[in-house]
Amino acid sequence: MNDPYQPPEEGEVAEALALMEAAVDAIITIDDSGRVRSFNPAAERMFGRDAKDVIGRPINALMPDPHSTRHDDYLARYLNHGDPRIIGIGRDVDALNADGDLVPIHLAVSEYWLGGERRFLGVLRDLTSQRQAEEAERETRARLAHAGRVSLMGEMTAGIAHEINQPLAAITMYSQACINLLASDNADLERLSGALEKLRDQALRAGAVIERLQRFVKGRSVVAEPTDMNELMTDVVALAANDGRLENIELKTSFSSPLPTVRCDSVQIQQVALNLIRNAIDAMAEIGCENGRDIEISTQLGDRQVTVTVADAGPGVTDEDEVFRPFHTTKLTGMGMGLSISKTIIDAHGGELSFKNLTPFGAAFSFRLPAEKST
Ligand SMILES: Nc1ncnc2c1ncn2[C@@H]1O[C@H](COP(=O)(O)OP(=O)(O)OP(=O)(O)O)[C@@H](O)[C@H]1O
Ligand SMILES: [Mg+2]
Repeated sequence: MNDPYQPPEEGEVAEALALMEAAVDAIITIDDSGRVRSFNPAAERMFGRDAKDVIGRPINALMPDPHSTRHDDYLARYLNHGDPRIIGIGRDVDALNADGDLVPIHLAVSEYWLGGERRFLGVLRDLTSQRQAEEAERETRARLAHAGRVSLMGEMTAGIAHEINQPLAAITMYSQACINLLASDNADLERLSGALEKLRDQALRAGAVIERLQRFVKGRSVVAEPTDMNELMTDVVALAANDGRLENIELKTSFSSPLPTVRCDSVQIQQVALNLIRNAIDAMAEIGCENGRDIEISTQLGDRQVTVTVADAGPGVTDEDEVFRPFHTTKLTGMGMGLSISKTIIDAHGGELSFKNLTPFGAAFSFRLPAEKST
């Protein structure tokens, strides 16, 4: 074996020790039996352990399963067959600290020789704050997307209300005219049919306004990317958990795993899921949670499709034929657009949004999306 080892000068040793002491990253060395040989102060801080308690012990104790049990095999495979799992390749993994908590780290391992003995050097960078920043950014992005939709909808509603009020006023006027004509002794059928035609035209005009709105929602660019529905729903549940807490409602999850990925615009699908959960919270709060305080959010794998279901303990859906109609709402502050927009989004993804009332109480809203071929 090549051993470029040359005994260091005394000054070099002092220098190397000072470097280990000062390093921001945790530095750990092990020998070829997997025992810790050195453990710098940054490693002590990261793991919450004193160097003296770790040195001489197996490194496995510092990692969670399955790596902890497999580490001896990894090492043996490398020593016998030169099959590197991690050496020379940096990896993001979890470290296990003294409290039993997982610390996300980037681990870079290299090999060196010391006085004829093979050693491994691990440099561990703590990724906790980086992960927190990423998480916060994801949350902000999702919130912004939602706020964006709400404010956009707010602005549009004023315009739409105006555009729709006109045909509605005309419809009221023409229908009243028809009633008057019919009530007269000898109804003029020609005038009656003229008024009914105008009435129909106005109704079509109101319909066209709504259609334009739906086209607008549908026409927004869809950024379809392979998405893990369990991950996406974990984010959504984290976002909605606060809304639930305000009503003392708990969001429970039951995810089927593993799931094939789904090609979708994750921000749009998040909006759909958020709306379903908010509707569920509203429904349960409306009856003072008399049937229970849990909402169950689950994922299921079907025949080449992934289904997400939000099941609540509310009063169930009463206007079954109306819920997907734009502007249909039973809430004082509702816009009645959530489900109709959600349906448009799910349809545009080649999926289906549906619901059923549960016995003895509650409703379950589900959306199915086509799964990608599992690789
Ligand atoms: N889980 C549910 N249980 C019972 N009724 C529901 C449920 N979800 C929706 N509904 C009914 O369907 C209606 C329409 O829901 P939708 O999400 O489209 O609008 P909204 O929640 O009223 O307002 P917003 O536009 O702010 O979402 C609701 O007002 C409610 O009456
Ligand atoms: Mg809603």
